[in-house]
Amino acid sequence: MTTPLAVTPFSAQIREASHEAHTEAENSSFMSDMLGGKLGVAAYRRYTEQLWFVYRALEARSADLAADPVAGPFIRPELSRTAALEADLDHLHEGPGWRTVITPLPATETYAARVTEVATTWPAGYVAHHYTRYLGDLSGGQIIRGTAEKTWGFTRKGPGVHFYVFDAIGNPAAFKREYRQSLDDIAADGQERLRIVEECKRAFALNSSVFQDLATACR
Ligand code: HEM
Repeated sequence: MTTPLAVTPFSAQIREASHEAHTEAENSSFMSDMLGGKLGVAAYRRYTEQLWFVYRALEARSADLAADPVAGPFIRPELSRTAALEADLDHLHEGPGWRTVITPLPATETYAARVTEVATTWPAGYVAHHYTRYLGDLSGGQIIRGTAEKTWGFTRKGPGVHFYVFDAIGNPAAFKREYRQSLDDIAADGQERLRIVEECKRAFALNSSVFQDLATACR
């Protein structure tokens, strides 16, 4: 009798493949300086503005993608962040005037354009971007929230940090387990899974470029 070869689940593959890029993003000088309190709340506001451009692109085609056999299982309304970001920006700008003044940094524009491209033409590639942002927000995002609350005095889970609060997800650990199961079950063959992993690395690199632009802009 032969023992079946152990196959690494796709959720573990994608996590391992992006591990190095994650460490890089986490330790970027912008993140370290912002969360280390070296930059003022203006840097946090600028960062939140960039996130708004990215999530608008991520969520613009949710309704269509929900019906897609590959991306559909990942589209969950409880993850939607655009409204939370808008509430945070209303708070950080003391009103809705930000809508006519904020601008995407060049790297943000490139990032949002790539998200829009995959959301329109390649649902499996979109999943790579979905994973990179939402699973990160549910994980390290919680550390960022705690630091932001402490550093700039935001009310716990209140205005300014709504982005990090997933009110509609009662049990984040269970949610993440289910999400990883959906990754393991994704309707994509081996070749396509490899392409998704590559797109995930690209998603991390796009985030790192935004941090680089932010570091320059917030100097
Ligand atoms: C200061 C910044 C960051 C910190 C402190 C941080 C921290 C963490 C931690 C502790 C986890 C593991 C949680 C767990 O095992 O459940 C995690 C997971 C994750 N983070 Fe981050 N992170 C940061 C930045 C980022 C960035 C910029 C991205 C991408 C845009 C990102 C994407 C992810 C993803 C996708 C996961 C899930 C990995 C998996 O389990 O498959 N993180 N992060």
